Amino acid sequence: MSKVYVFTEYGGPENQELTDREVPQPGPGELGVRVHAAGVNPLDWKLRSGAAGRSRTLPAALGEEAAGTVTAVGEGVEGFTVGDEVLGLVAPGAGGYAEDTLLAAESTVPKPEEISFIDGAAIPIAGSTAYAGTHQVELEPGQSLLINGAGGGVGLMAAQIGRVHKFQVIGVGSEDKRGLIKSTGATFVASGQGLADRVHQVLPDGVDLVFDLVGGQALRSAAPLAKDPSLVVSAADAGTVEELGGQVLRRTPEMIGKITGVIQYGLVDPTVLTTYPLKQAGDAVAQVEEGHTRGKVVLEIIADQG
Ligand SMILES: NC(=O)c1ccc[n+]([C@@H]2O[C@H](COP(=O)([O-])OP(=O)(O)OC[C@H]3O[C@@H](n4cnc5c(N)ncnc54)[C@H](OP(=O)(O)O)[C@@H]3O)[C@@H](O)[C@H]2O)c1
Repeated sequence: MSKVYVFTEYGGPENQELTDREVPQPGPGELGVRVHAAGVNPLDWKLRSGAAGRSRTLPAALGEEAAGTVTAVGEGVEGFTVGDEVLGLVAPGAGGYAEDTLLAAESTVPKPEEISFIDGAAIPIAGSTAYAGTHQVELEPGQSLLINGAGGGVGLMAAQIGRVHKFQVIGVGSEDKRGLIKSTGATFVASGQGLADRVHQVLPDGVDLVFDLVGGQALRSAAPLAKDPSLVVSAADAGTVEELGGQVLRRTPEMIGKITGVIQYGLVDPTVLTTYPLKQAGDAVAQVEEGHTRGKVVLEIIADQG
């Protein structure tokens, strides 16, 4: 048997529990993986609450990204063998918060030695989203990128990608994230009322790209700072960004490999600032659900020997 953290009903965190299941066996296009570390994302609690739809069969395992060691290779999968260290997107419903899971082979890449399992677990969703949001609108060096929600898992990586490309990065977050956001090389601007005035002090002509990671009213406040409505990309709120004439984030599996290479060469740090053991998965979800995460939260499931 193998441990997995699940939700048993759609709704609040009281429906989450650690349980046992048979080790899942990979189907076509999947890899069986012994999980060393699993990323914790806002999507996880949104799936549990029903906000991201109710398509999962209950009880449903939590967690959509993981890093670990291949234990079985499904039909039709090429390029992976048992024993490979990998990172990737969890096959829908298999759960990353688990001792053993299934990864979708098309969204899985080898884990370079230079990247720990813990950092690797932050790449498939948060890393590739940071990559997508900083490349969806092509900017030249010197152009400006405003990241709304810069102190969280995606935002800190996006700010560092912006630095690599020599963009002028403005990181918007709460005052207690000032130092963290500035450590990426970004200019910190406090979130909340008066945002437009504060940004205009730095960029009087507006922003070349707004990358939104918050949505709702915070997106409505940041979007008009872009030089054109189409220069707003949101990963957090498709309905509002479309209403405002901006773009919904587009993320593809190839981006996982691209950002893995950038991280491998030390150009971007996934900035995992909090780890929990699997038995405290509920605390990890609660921290992310609270909405003011510092950096990335990861579950360390098997201690990283490397
Ligand atoms: N579409 C996709 O493929 C995709 C993939 C990954 C993530 N996402 C979405 O992208 C969003 C961010 O993900 P994440 O993993 O980075 O989340 P996260 O780690 O929880 O970080 C969110 C950050 O936003 C900040 N924030 C909250 N309210 C804010 C406001 N009004 N103004 C500025 N910053 C504010 C938070 O802290 P402070 O307020 O303290 O600064 C926090 O640092 C989530 O909605 C997630 O679901 C989408």
